[in-house]
Amino acid sequence: MPDLTPAESFHLHRRARSHRAHVLSRLLVLLEDDYSLALRRAPDVRQACTEAYGPAHEPVVVSFPLLGVISAQQWREKGVEVPALDARIHPHYGVFSPVRGEYVDLVARTPLPASVTHGPGTAFDLGTGTGVLAVLLAHRGLDHIVATDINPRALTCARENVRRLNLTGRIDVVGPGLFPEGRAGLIVCNPPWIPARSTSAVEQGVYDPNSAMLHSFLDGLAAHLEPRGEGWLILSDLAEHLGLRTRRELLTVIETAGLHVVDKIDTRPRHPRAWDTTDPLHAARAAEVTSL
Ligand SMILES: C[S@@+](CC[C@H](N)C(=O)[O-])C[C@H]1O[C@@H](n2cnc3c(N)ncnc32)[C@H](O)[C@@H]1O
Repeated sequence: MPDLTPAESFHLHRRARSHRAHVLSRLLVLLEDDYSLALRRAPDVRQACTEAYGPAHEPVVVSFPLLGVISAQQWREKGVEVPALDARIHPHYGVFSPVRGEYVDLVARTPLPASVTHGPGTAFDLGTGTGVLAVLLAHRGLDHIVATDINPRALTCARENVRRLNLTGRIDVVGPGLFPEGRAGLIVCNPPWIPARSTSAVEQGVYDPNSAMLHSFLDGLAAHLEPRGEGWLILSDLAEHLGLRTRRELLTVIETAGLHVVDKIDTRPRHPRAWDTTDPLHAARAAEVTSL
């Protein structure tokens, strides 16, 4: 195969993933009217399907990625240990899971701005997913956090984690949407970091065509910050290593939005894929830096 640019390798890799998803989606499984599988020795998938698809009414045919539904149920039941919280966060089916802890640690160790330590103490967490960063901000002592997401599954999931951790009085989960009403002294956002189309619900946490959420966050930030407030953007530069976005583009959006970068704190990935030399995107993954 001729030498490919990083962007060509990425698009080839995505095309293969999309083809695989398409083939698997054509393999169908019949579920009974209580989501049971009428096959000898079949696993009991009733609870997993209820959590992913809602209550059962009649026999349904679902596509083979039922396996994803089953593993999502395991994650939801067991939860993900978040050392910065000393607690477990329970992701739902189709919701971005905080398995890569390095970005959570960035939010845990970055000094809080005076606008929240000496002010009303209100923060926004935009695109909250499981609610992990909103919970972390509460853990760091903030009085009131408003968390949003565009994905209704994420809103339900975040509300459940907030309730489980007894933070209902301090964290409001609202949406679907991006910015809530009003202003905050701190606005945190960890948007999808790869500008490309997603092939499944859960991928919408990672892929976002044209970096739409990133742009909306930066464009709306100044209008939603209290005086001397800070916006914390958590962003991996993987898209830059893949040739899908340039640093110049990002800095231009920041400047055009009238924002001023006061600091940048970097971290390197700790997940095993960063060292997997058989991964076609290895060179880009090995060079990846995530910054706040
Ligand atoms: C990378 S995930 C981060 C989730 C969570 N904040 C965390 O750190 O684990 C990005 C989140 O942004 C949400 N999202 C994507 N586009 C959005 C938009 N336009 N408005 C609000 N949320 C959006 C996704 O549903 C997803 O939950």
